[in-house]
Amino acid sequence: MKSEDLISRFLRIYGQRSKEIHLYFGPGRVNLIGEHTDYNGGFVFPCALSFGTYLAIRKTSEPFLEFHSEGFEYSAIIPLRSQYHRSGKEWVNYPLGIIETYRQYGHLTGGLQFFYSGNIPAAAGLSSSASIEMVTAFALNDLYNWNYSILDQIKLSKKAENEFIGVNCGIMDMFSIGQGKKDHAILLDCDSLEFQLVPVFVKDYSLVITNTNKKRGLGDSKYNERVGECGKAVECLSKELKINSLGNVRMEQFNAFAHLIPDPVIFKRARHVISENDRVLQAVKALKNGKFAMFGELMIQSHHSLRDDYEVTGFELDSLVDIMLKQKGVLGARMTGAGFGGCTVAFVKNECLDEFLENVATAYKEKTGLQAEFYLPEIDDGVKKLI
Ligand code: GLA
Repeated sequence: MKSEDLISRFLRIYGQRSKEIHLYFGPGRVNLIGEHTDYNGGFVFPCALSFGTYLAIRKTSEPFLEFHSEGFEYSAIIPLRSQYHRSGKEWVNYPLGIIETYRQYGHLTGGLQFFYSGNIPAAAGLSSSASIEMVTAFALNDLYNWNYSILDQIKLSKKAENEFIGVNCGIMDMFSIGQGKKDHAILLDCDSLEFQLVPVFVKDYSLVITNTNKKRGLGDSKYNERVGECGKAVECLSKELKINSLGNVRMEQFNAFAHLIPDPVIFKRARHVISENDRVLQAVKALKNGKFAMFGELMIQSHHSLRDDYEVTGFELDSLVDIMLKQKGVLGARMTGAGFGGCTVAFVKNECLDEFLENVATAYKEKTGLQAEFYLPEIDDGVKKLI
């Protein structure tokens, strides 16, 4: 999007004033492998995307926070307060959560006008909410010179999502939006927060994200339930192992101590997390060594584990992945994000791409009655200032 377009849309809503308008961009993200491992202190391998959330923002001398967006009809004018509370389910809770969290850190804003415009499909599992949070955290830090590092902003955004919004998500989304780099994925250890940027170059293949168009909302989903189940698995294993999270457990250890988990459901949840952690490290190694077929195979194994052990896929995601794996030129495909609907991620050979898109759309419509939507984004940089 052009900066002039964003500014003229901002001015149409808020009118001309003397104070300067600033523009920022926060990308969406896709996770290539390592699902439901972040809140378990495990490994993830996500990247930032070329689509995301644009924010135009201006300081005012009025005692209000004004919120408008292009994508959502809802807008709000909130008086400056000494404390902010979440109200209802509207999108303004995301920026408000960031403002409230900065306040808890001792920083108050003056009057502000916000205008958001984004091209991440909502509720598709590509982190549209984390992208709003991170772009807001970044913009406020920059506007008021609060001097927080990008890692501080990542942690602050996660705190806002956990405490203000009430979703017990891990750090992956914010981290990939904060630290993304063009043409690279991030191998992140969610326990130590050490990370490595790994070039994503899969010769002759394109990254294809496909929306099942089955709507999901994190807050309503079984996400928090899974977080609780993993906690129970840690409790059981801690009887004999010195661990803080499932991320500390290696597969051989799990095999030796699995009898400590009597509940078969909790056992399966733990097996997914521990095996997925192994897969991330194997997949990164395969990618670095140009073993693309192996990388694709690990993506497929990841999907199966999310389907059978973690049970977060569902009819639409499973149908889509099954259909994809029957097409020519597909290296691997899996669900991405929290699951329960949302998107898949796949690598597809360039020369097979047209046929792939057509065949998948037709077969998926036939099977589910839903229209699949395809995105072919670039892997791009993290949150930034535009002007
Ligand atoms: C959502 C959460 C992330 C992560 C994924 C599953 O996207 O926001 O923190 O847990 O689900 O891997």
